Amino acid sequence: MKQKVTVTREVFDETLAYLAQHVEVTSNQSNQPYGPDGLAGRLQGMDGAVVMTVDKVDDALLSRCPQLKVVSSASVGYNHIDLAACTRRGVMATNTPGVLTDSVADFAVCLTLATCRRLTEAEAFLRSGAWAGTHLKEMLGVDLHHATVGICGFGRIGQAIAQRLRGFQTKLLYTTRTRLSPEVEQRFDVTYAAKDDLLRRSDIVILILPYTAETHHYIGERELGLMKPLSVLVNVARGAVVDDAALIETLKARRIFAAGLDVYENEPKFNPGLLQLTNVVLAPHISSASEPTRQAMAMTAAKNCVAALTTGEPPHLLNPEVSRKGARV
Ligand code: DGY
Repeated sequence: MKQKVTVTREVFDETLAYLAQHVEVTSNQSNQPYGPDGLAGRLQGMDGAVVMTVDKVDDALLSRCPQLKVVSSASVGYNHIDLAACTRRGVMATNTPGVLTDSVADFAVCLTLATCRRLTEAEAFLRSGAWAGTHLKEMLGVDLHHATVGICGFGRIGQAIAQRLRGFQTKLLYTTRTRLSPEVEQRFDVTYAAKDDLLRRSDIVILILPYTAETHHYIGERELGLMKPLSVLVNVARGAVVDDAALIETLKARRIFAAGLDVYENEPKFNPGLLQLTNVVLAPHISSASEPTRQAMAMTAAKNCVAALTTGEPPHLLNPEVSRKGARV
C-alpha cells in the first residue's frame, strides 16, 4: 500500500505529479492556511507532510499525529519546526537549502534599492495624481552605490548578496557568530565587524541570519539607536529578528532613513503601525518567489519527503540523529 502524504498549501502540478508516482497524495489547493487544529486534523493518518513556513510544527502538533514520519518544509528556514520535538518523537525534518540562494539574494538587492530610492512611496505619489513634474527636491533617496553595507549573517545567501553588491562598488562589512577564515573574507572582499560596530559604521544594514532564541529581536531599540541617521535597514531573514514596535518608533521619529521588510513576526499578521509609515517598503515574504525557484523548492521538498519515506535518508535531513536513533518509518 502506498504511503500517504499531504501538501499543506497550493502547489505546482509537477510537484503533485512527482509525489503521486511514489505516494498517495492530497494537497490544500484551496490554499487557506489550516491553523493548528486544522493542520492536526489534516495530518491524521499521514505518513508525510510537505509544509510551508506558515505551518507551526511543534510538540503539541506532533503528539496529535503519531503516524507522521517526515515533515518536509518547502523553505530553507525551519524556525517554524520544533526540531528537538521532531527528534524526540522520531520524526524526520527536512528543508530546501541551495535552490533559493540566488533568488533570495536578488530580492535582497531589489528591496534594498526600493527602500533607498523610496520606490513604493514614489509609485503611490504618482498614482495619487499629485505629481506636477520632476523637480530637483522630489523623492530624494539615498544611494546604494559606494555605500558601506553591513550584512548580518553570512551563510550562503549572505555571501550571494555580497557578490551582487560588489557590482555597486560598496564597502562590505559582515557579522556572524563565528568569524570566517581570511581566505573566505578575501574571496568575498568583506571585512568582519562586531555587531555594534557594524551597526555604527553601515549606511545600509541587511539582515539575513537564521532566527533562533539568540537572534530574537536581534535589532531592537538599542541597536536602532546605534545606526546612522540616514541609514537603511533591510530584513529578508525572519520577522522576529527585529522588534517591530521599536522599528516603528524609530521610523516615525525618522531616526533612520527607511526600512525594507519582507518578513514579519507573526506572519501573515504584521504590526498595523507599519501601514501608517511612508518610510518603509513592505513585501509579503516573497524573497524566493520567482517561478523557477518556487518550482525547485516544491520539488526539493517533495523529493525529501519521498526519500524519507522510502529510504529513511532524505538529502536535506535536519535531524540525522533520528535515522540513527530509529525513525518512525
Ligand atoms: C525560506 O525559504 O526560508 C525563505 O524565507 C524564503 O521563502
